[in-house]
Parts: sequence; C-alpha cells; structure tokens
Amino acid sequence: MMDDASLNALRAALDSYADPYLGESLGAAQAVQDLRPAGEGARARIRLGFPVGGYHDELAEGLKRHLAGAGITIPLALELVAEIRAHAVQRNLKPLERIKNIVAVASGKGGVGKSTVAVNLALAWAAQGARVGMLDADIYGPSQPLMLGLAGEHPGSPDGKHLKPVAAHGIAAMSIGFLVDAEQPMVWRGPMVTQALSQLLSETDWGELDYLVVDMPPGTGDIQLTLSQRVPVAGAVIVTTPQDIALADARKGLRMFEKVSVPVLGIVENMSVHVCSNCGHTEHIFGAGGGARMAAQYGVALLGELPLDAHIREEADSGRPSVIAAPASARAQAYFAMARRTAAALSLRARDRSSVFPKIVVEES
Ligand SMILES: Nc1ncnc2c1ncn2[C@@H]1O[C@H](COP(=O)(O)OP(=O)(O)O)[C@@H](O)[C@H]1O
Ligand SMILES: [Mg+2]
Ligand SMILES: [Zn+2]
Repeated sequence: MMDDASLNALRAALDSYADPYLGESLGAAQAVQDLRPAGEGARARIRLGFPVGGYHDELAEGLKRHLAGAGITIPLALELVAEIRAHAVQRNLKPLERIKNIVAVASGKGGVGKSTVAVNLALAWAAQGARVGMLDADIYGPSQPLMLGLAGEHPGSPDGKHLKPVAAHGIAAMSIGFLVDAEQPMVWRGPMVTQALSQLLSETDWGELDYLVVDMPPGTGDIQLTLSQRVPVAGAVIVTTPQDIALADARKGLRMFEKVSVPVLGIVENMSVHVCSNCGHTEHIFGAGGGARMAAQYGVALLGELPLDAHIREEADSGRPSVIAAPASARAQAYFAMARRTAAALSLRARDRSSVFPKIVVEES
C-alpha cells in the first residue's frame, strides 16, 4: 500500500496536470476530489465542470504520461464525475429556471456552417452525457428540422399552454421552422421576431437541461443584437470559415457580443481543411491558420477546426449529423473535441449567483 509521502507526491503530480480542454491544471480547477490507496496503486475521483462521457481513457492516458514524467508509475484508477453548473449571464438578466446554460451559436454571415456546428455540438454534448436542448432561432433559414430528421413534424401542446419540444437523437428540439411554412417565407419585422423567439424559448416545456444550444440568425443586425440582449446567454460560439471576408464578419459578431456583455467562449473554424472524397488527402484550400490568428488577436479560444468534408453535408442533410451517423470517424471526433473544449471553456466562467436572490420577474416591453 502507498505511504503518505508517495500519496502526497501523487496528489501534487495530479494537481499539476494541465488538462488540454480546460487549458488549466486539475489543481486550479479543484478537480481532484478524492485520492486514496487502492491495491498496488491509487484511486482518484476527478470532478469536472463539463460532460465527461467518453473522456475516461483519454484522460487516463494523459495522466499516465504526465505521472511517468514525474517518476510515478503506479496503477491509477480514475472515477470521472461531471458537475455542470449554471454560469453567469448578462448583468441585467438571470438564467431560466430549469436551463442551466444557454449557449448561442452565431456567425457573421449565413452559409458558414453555423447550423451544422450547432447540431453536432448539441448532439455531441448529449452523447457525452449532458441533458441538451436545441432552439433553432434562425428565422432566415431554420434548418434544424431537416438536420435532426424532423422535417414535417409539429410540436404538440398537451396542456394548451406550453409547447412540447420534439425529441431527436436524445435531445429536445424546437424550431421556428416547425411553426412557419417552409414554402412560404414570412416577412419578419424586428419586434415580431424577438416576440416569437422569446415565446418559443419561454413557452417550450424543455424540462431540466444542462445546455440549450441556440442556432442564432446569421449576421449582426438589429434582430441579432436584440436577441443577444434579451436571451440570458452564458456564452457564445462564433462560427467562421477561413476566408478573409468571413473572418471580417466573424469579428463583427465578436464585437456585438462584447457590446451586450455576453462572453464569447471561442471561435470555431469550419471548412478549415478540405478532405478529398476520393482519396482522403487533405488541403487548406482557403489558407491555413485564419481562425487561430483571429482567436489569438482577440484573446478568445479556438474551439475547433472542422474539416470541409462532403460526408458532413450528406449526413446533416439526411437528418443524421456526423456525430450520430459516424461517431468513430475523424470528422465526428473533431466535433466531440470541439464540444468538450466549448463546455470546458464555459466551466471556467463565473458561476451564476442570481439564485441566491429572490426571483425577479422581467416585464415584457
Ligand atoms: N464542414 C463541412 N463540410 C461540408 N459541408 C458542410 C460543412 N459544414 C456545413 N456544410 C454544409 O454547408 C451548407 C451550409 O451549412 P449550414 O450549417 O446550413 O450553414 P449556416 O447555418 O451557417 O447557413 C449545408 O449544406 C451543410 O451541410
Ligand atoms: Mg443555418
Ligand atoms: Zn484526392
């Protein structure tokens, strides 16, 4: 059995492990909860603020290498626990009661793959063990019904007051597309949009959620600005492609969220590297490193670099996004890693403290 001195050395070594998703040490994250001798080695409980499904082997491998570097080679058994907390939203708002974190997925312009990122993010979090909802708020092109295989579905309202979200691949989905006719595009005026979307958010019976992913309307106009002011968002993810124009638009998105004090969790560079469908060779057809440069320039994280891969389009368009259709593929793994980085970035944000105060009712104006 281990003596106290070697147990202390082990604890110090575990605490100093820099988790690649958190970007900080397990010690700083107060993750090592319980460490005790077990058999020839030790057993540790690691508590993380993000979903841990599928993380055990990767973390165990990383820790093993790290410990070996510190001269520790005893067998270590790990128990991973996820403790997902509600994080602070805009100063004048409070989080919804049963939804811990709303995460907005936004883009400076349409067509960059925002909806594809949003749906794979939501499904990846669910696969990693979180309770997840998806609100498709993209009035210009609600594509979640298609991507979730729910085209033609209509949400019910068992109590005549609340909408029941539609279930798909383990998440709860609501879309503006369920309520409007896809063939008859509506002319939306700003106030109508905010009204309709606030209603979809608050009158849907989401149940208890760890994360609600919101597929935002693309762009940085009045509608987007009003939404970012009204919806209690814990963090925003900005999707861009590597081209200069797309990056310039993404910068505008970043500034919009800054203006309304929504923390930007990071940038996702979509269609970063082209994967040939014939031979699988990869090529940076739009130039390499644009997302990384922008992230560095603005001091935000680069949450993912996703391939431009025809499978991604085929899978999303057929209602089974890549993390569902081909979870072991390289493309799905890129989404899983992006999802873990995003949740880890959120876990480092300040926690919501509003629940210690009485409930505040915000009047609709
Ligand atoms: N990484 C990718 N590789 C290949 N096709 C993609 C990728 N991301 C998105 N697409 C496809 O590009 C099109 C636009 O994506 P979408 O997510 O609808 O963009 P947005 O929501 O930003 O308008 C869709 O047909 C989608 O399937
Ligand atoms: Mg879209
Ligand atoms: Zn090729």
